[in-house]
Amino acid sequence: MKIIKEIDQEILENDICLVPTMGALHEGHFSLIKEGKELGLQLMVSLFINEMQFNIKEDFINYPKRIEEDIKVLENLEIDYLFIPENNYIYPLDGFDTVDSGALGKKFEGDSRPGHFDGVLTVVNRLFQIIKPKVAIFGKKDAQQLFLIKEMVNKKNYQIKIIEGLTVRDDSGLALSSRNLLLSEFGKEKARLLHDILNQSKTYFFETKDLLVFEKFNSIFSRNDITLDYLEILDSETFTKPEDGTDTYIIVIAAYVENIRLIDNIEFRMEKE
Ligand code: PAF
Repeated sequence: MKIIKEIDQEILENDICLVPTMGALHEGHFSLIKEGKELGLQLMVSLFINEMQFNIKEDFINYPKRIEEDIKVLENLEIDYLFIPENNYIYPLDGFDTVDSGALGKKFEGDSRPGHFDGVLTVVNRLFQIIKPKVAIFGKKDAQQLFLIKEMVNKKNYQIKIIEGLTVRDDSGLALSSRNLLLSEFGKEKARLLHDILNQSKTYFFETKDLLVFEKFNSIFSRNDITLDYLEILDSETFTKPEDGTDTYIIVIAAYVENIRLIDNIEFRMEKE
C-alpha cells in the first residue's frame, strides 16, 4: 500500500477504483473496499476529513479522527493507494470549483445541516477531478448523499461508474457509522430503535398507505430520550414524496441519540394492487 499526499501522472495512468472516506474506518468501509477489490482495478482509498461539509465547528472538532489506526488496518487489506491529502491540495488558494447541491441539498439532512451537501459535493467533485477514477464506491447508508452524487455525475457527464455499497449492520440492526464511536454502550442500545422503527414504518405503510410515520412513531423516540429529526417515506428514484407511479420506496430517518446525529434508511418495493 502506497501512502500518497498528491496524485501524479504515473498514478493517473491506472484505472482507479476510488473509495472516498473520512477515516474512523469500520466494517461498513471494509465492505466497500472488498467490493472495490473484486473489480480488479487499482484500488485507492482516500482519507480526508472535509471540514467544508460540517456546518457546526464543534461537530468537526468532535468527529472521530483515527488516522494511525486507520493506516494500520488498511495495511492488511492490500489496497494499492491510500490518499491522505493536505487541505490546501484539495482546496488550493488559487481556486477550485464549488458545487451547489440544489433544492434537494436543502432538504432532510440538508435542512438540519445547512451547507452540508454543498461541502460533500464540492469535495467529491474535487476528488473526481484530481483522481479521475473509473469507478467510485459510496455506501447506501448515506442515501441522500449517494443520490446527490449520482445526480452530480450525470449533470457533469462524468464517465465514472458509481457503485452503491450495502449498509452494514451490527447484530442488533444498528447501521455501522464512524459516529457510533461517540456513543456509550447505553446509547448504542438506544440507537437500535432507528432500525426498528424503520421496519415498523414499512409495515405500517404496507398496511395503511399512510405516509405520516413521523407523527405515528415520534412519541416512541421521545419516551426513549431520542430526538427524532425526520422520518419520511419517499420515492427512492426521485427522493420526493411518493406518487401513484412510485415503484421503489425509501424510508429515511435522522435522530439524535446522546446528542450524536445518526441517520439510516431502508429501501423496498411495494407490489401494485
Ligand atoms: O461519506 C463520507 O464519508 C463523506 O461524506 C465523503 C463521501 C467521503 C465526502 O467527504
